[in-house]
Amino acid sequence: MQHLLAGAVRTGSLPWEEFLDAWYRVVRRVVFGDHARDDTELTDLIIRLRQDGNWAFLKPVRRRTRARFLRRIGDELANAEPGSLAAVMASAPKGDGAEPSDQVPQWLFAFDPAGMATFRALTVLATHPAALAEARREIDGDTSGRRVLPYLRATVLEALRLWPTTPMILRQTTQPVQWEHGLMPKGCGVLVFAPYFHRDDRALRRAHDFFPERWLTDEDDAWPLVPFSDGPVVCPGRHLVLLLTSAALASVVGGHDLAPGTGPHLDPDTPLPGTLDHYSTILEVAVRQASDQELSERY
Ligand code: HEM
Repeated sequence: MQHLLAGAVRTGSLPWEEFLDAWYRVVRRVVFGDHARDDTELTDLIIRLRQDGNWAFLKPVRRRTRARFLRRIGDELANAEPGSLAAVMASAPKGDGAEPSDQVPQWLFAFDPAGMATFRALTVLATHPAALAEARREIDGDTSGRRVLPYLRATVLEALRLWPTTPMILRQTTQPVQWEHGLMPKGCGVLVFAPYFHRDDRALRRAHDFFPERWLTDEDDAWPLVPFSDGPVVCPGRHLVLLLTSAALASVVGGHDLAPGTGPHLDPDTPLPGTLDHYSTILEVAVRQASDQELSERY
């Protein structure tokens, strides 16, 4: 993030593509270790495979690219760097038929929404001064080495509530379910459309506002807010995601001022839009200026 910010301060701007390059560097270090920081081939291979995967059966399978990608992951797991996720995987007991290298692609692509949520959270903080001030109070008083940042974790959760990166959750009924208007049989496919619940202003207070505080109390617990899903297959990466994204946010807003440049201009007094295009967003960046209040507290 510091490397990214140095460039952003030089040009005064932070576009999504540059943030994403930095995010992939972070992800490679977390998954494989520091040596993989600049190994863009690993990321390029999975991007290429996923782009083709979007065409499903309409495009031939890239067997050679897939084999190369899995071979590279196998090599990484065999030489796992201490402290990386790969090292955790390498030291875990391996059951019959388990294919650890087949699991790693999900880790890699599942970090994409975490990058999106972080950048969207930055876009919101750039336009919500009260939230930014609260975030900075937390960062300035942090003694945990950026491990425990509840407000910033809530900021990411709130960005995921407003703009869920997994909008559809699929389930199948395991027994007949009685609804108000009839019986749903066993074995029925169910699609849970998260935005419908996340933005239901009849049931949820401040449904269209950026209100991270909701994640710090149990007041909204009775309503299904499910950015990471819920139940037996709730996302197992959620704690890692919140640890990493909150630390990334702290690295950026702790020492830098942000302002909206190109792209959406969000307004704290207006309902936030149902979608947020991060691709065309460019944030303006400058080294943090101390506010009048901060100066008066200091001297
Ligand atoms: C912002 C980032 C992420 C979001 C919003 C997210 C969300 C989700 C959601 C909604 C599911 C589906 C659960 C279901 O079917 O009900 C899921 C599954 C899963 N996620 Fe994540 N995820 C994120 C990042 C990650 C990361 C970084 C990892 C791994 C390092 C990860 C690992 C998994 C795995 C392994 C599953 C499958 C769980 C199972 O089938 O038992 N996720 N995630």
